Amino acid sequence: MPFITLEGIDGSGKSTVISLLKEKLIEKSLDFIVVREPGGTPIGEKIRTLLLDPRCSISPIEEVYLYASSRATLVREVILPALSSSKIIISERYLDSSLAYQGYGKGVPLSFIYEVNRPAIMDLYPDLTILLDIDPNICMERLKNKKKDRIELEGLNLQKRVRCGYLKLAEIYKERYLVVDATKEPQGIVEEVWERIRTLIR
Ligand SMILES: Nc1ncnc2c1ncn2[C@@H]1O[C@H](COP(=O)(O)OP(=O)(O)OP(=O)(O)O)[C@@H](O)[C@H]1O
Ligand SMILES: [Mg+2]
Repeated sequence: MPFITLEGIDGSGKSTVISLLKEKLIEKSLDFIVVREPGGTPIGEKIRTLLLDPRCSISPIEEVYLYASSRATLVREVILPALSSSKIIISERYLDSSLAYQGYGKGVPLSFIYEVNRPAIMDLYPDLTILLDIDPNICMERLKNKKKDRIELEGLNLQKRVRCGYLKLAEIYKERYLVVDATKEPQGIVEEVWERIRTLIR
């Protein structure tokens, strides 16, 4: 069964789409798990708290290591076991988030990010990556009343670079990417995404 990841800048609608997708999968009686990064395991959730804490100062290189550590436990403890029991896996964020944020967003060489992550993901790449593409100004508006985490506080310019980075990744990995206009109604987005997921379900 497919391993599907959702990517996109902060507030692009990943969690919203995933909650609607869940309803769809339940309706179709399909066996699935949903996970999020960073987090999803006891160690991963602790790393998440560290990473998102506005009081912590963490360099981009340190971020690469911390995200990769969280990813490593998630792959080993949750994703690989779910794959062996033929479940559909949906992950909010994965390797491409590190490439987009720490790489394109903050200037860490992509080769370094691949090198650190290769042992963490044990060669597990997604079958499908859904990119919720949207202008960061719209997301700022969506998130204006939310309490911001450390990454979100870094601002609009970072989000703009990250968006461009994601679009470059979508070019590089054309065959596994589906780029969706994330300004559409959530239900419309899910219909579009579902059409693609259907083709991957055995
Ligand atoms: N398609 C949409 N149209 C309008 N508003 C939306 C849409 N999708 C999500 N929203 C709203 O935008 C906000 C952010 O959505 P959501 O939490 O799903 O984004 P996210 O990508 O998961 O964010 P994060 O990166 O913080 O996890 C929420 O208030 C949500 O209701
Ligand atoms: Mg979310």
